[in-house]
Amino acid sequence: MPGTSAMRERTGPRRGSAGTIVETMADPLYTIAATLREAFAAVTGMPAAGIDPVVRPSDRADAQANGALALAKQLGRNPREVAEAVVATGLLDAVCSHVEVAGPGFINLTFTPQFLAAQLVDAAATDRLGVRSAESPERAVVDYSAPNVAKEMHAGHLRTTVIGDSLVRLLEFMGHEVIRENHIGDWGTPFGMLIEHLVDVASVDVAGVDGVDDLEVADLNVFYREARTKFDESDEFKARARDRVVKLQSRDHLETTNLWLALVHQSTKHFNEAYRKLGVLLTDDDLAGESMYQPSMPAVLERLHAAGLLAESEGAKVVWVPGYTNREGEPLPLIVQARSGGFNYATSDLACVIDRVERLHATLLVYVVGTPQSQHLAMVWKVAEMAGWLVPPARAVHVNFGNVLGDDRKMLKSRSGDPVTFIELIDEAIDRGRAAVAERSPELPAAEQAVLGHNIGIGALKYAELSSDRIKDYVFDWARMLAFDGNTAPYLQYAHARICSIFRRAGVERASVRATMPTLSEPQERALGLQLLQFDTVVHDTLDKFSPHRLCTYLFDLAQAFTAFYEACPVLKEGYEATRDSRLALCDLTARVLQQGLALLGIEAPERM
Ligand code: ARG
Repeated sequence: MPGTSAMRERTGPRRGSAGTIVETMADPLYTIAATLREAFAAVTGMPAAGIDPVVRPSDRADAQANGALALAKQLGRNPREVAEAVVATGLLDAVCSHVEVAGPGFINLTFTPQFLAAQLVDAAATDRLGVRSAESPERAVVDYSAPNVAKEMHAGHLRTTVIGDSLVRLLEFMGHEVIRENHIGDWGTPFGMLIEHLVDVASVDVAGVDGVDDLEVADLNVFYREARTKFDESDEFKARARDRVVKLQSRDHLETTNLWLALVHQSTKHFNEAYRKLGVLLTDDDLAGESMYQPSMPAVLERLHAAGLLAESEGAKVVWVPGYTNREGEPLPLIVQARSGGFNYATSDLACVIDRVERLHATLLVYVVGTPQSQHLAMVWKVAEMAGWLVPPARAVHVNFGNVLGDDRKMLKSRSGDPVTFIELIDEAIDRGRAAVAERSPELPAAEQAVLGHNIGIGALKYAELSSDRIKDYVFDWARMLAFDGNTAPYLQYAHARICSIFRRAGVERASVRATMPTLSEPQERALGLQLLQFDTVVHDTLDKFSPHRLCTYLFDLAQAFTAFYEACPVLKEGYEATRDSRLALCDLTARVLQQGLALLGIEAPERM
């Protein structure tokens, strides 16, 4: 269940929103936690369900349980004694080869290889690879990407697009129903000047209804800037622009509506091109721009009024939101209707909350939006809460993120000094990916090189966005993100492709080894096995915190555990026939977890590199 605390994940039973306790199949730490609760209950006489055995992975053993400390304190007993009594129950012997009480009352646990091997075979038996689906599936709206019409998408839009897309994939994998919404900025007063500028520069007869679709705006940023300059410099243009806004808002002036549609169409064409190259899920069906909520704005005001929340301040209609103040320390209202009568970004976001909860019946509202909009969103949600529109189980989560910086630690700029655009980044990623492939794998046919290069370049770009804590700013660095070693997509893609090639060389069908119990006699086999079994916990943690970097870190650790295993444990070498299938089973599961993990990040895992 996303949006809840992650810290209890390893320390106790997982509780669904309905309060039910569910044990996992895959992660041995959960299984052992359940057994430990029984043992603690037997020793203390307390009900098992209320006991937290505090199980964590450990350097000394496979896991450590620290629950005896708190329990003993509660009961006024000696913690070491409690721990020893727990061990003496014998309940742990079925799954542990070694149990030891250490320090003030820690219980160090080493699992039997048979227990781990059985968990691995279970994980390998299904496509979920041991990952439990959500206990209470929900309907979630994920609001992401959301560029603005008639402006270029910038690096910040790349962040929301890549992070949001990964969250959509994670939520769907867990069994939630996801509605993607691309809340594009397609409405507001700037459209008056943009439409007038379009009229001035268009080569076709704008009054004609059919011509507008063929209008081409080569460079959206230039177009926007030209319109802005005219607006600032010419009173005549300014007057026309104002007049145009009135026509647009009345929605019954056909020529204006068509010109506006032409602008929106120009922009979405450009957005779609970027989405296609980037390989994200968004399509035109996901568009839910600000304009969509215009018709319902008057109702927002009526409902606020009915709820007794609407106030007037300096001629504007506002809602006073407790707890918010401006720089001078005075109460700060949320303005929902300007003095001029126009609605704004806040009004449209309020209408949008109502739409998501009341029409779409979503209970989880995820907003993947940059940190600067924190206050705006918090105020909108507070008002929606006060009005009774956003009430449990419905809730909103701000998945915020920091800036993309250049190596000078300032906002990322292109060579011309302008902010770098989304499409430039994507194209450069693809070029660089292709160059890397041409250098490393010149023997591959050209068509294969092109696809592989695309997947490597885009993978590197996405992974760079996802692998650092989203809340922090991150420094954009082509060389680092495209390196074939380190915590990068090419490294993980390569680890996956290498395993695929082991099977090709062996001439073994991957699925044929899936029922084989791995023997786990070497320490590197054991370490790899334990790592594989953590996939479940990690995917749940990642979604609980809406933090894809957790999954990235895990995949990197897994690839490293695999490398250590592969160096120490020959798989196909002559003389190692007895362990071959057992080791191939570990190889296969590693490749599947890598492939599935990358897929959840929206990254391809080629079979050959
Ligand atoms: N269009 C906005 C921007 O580019 C983001 C919109 C985010 N979504 C929302 N419901 N406010 O900054």
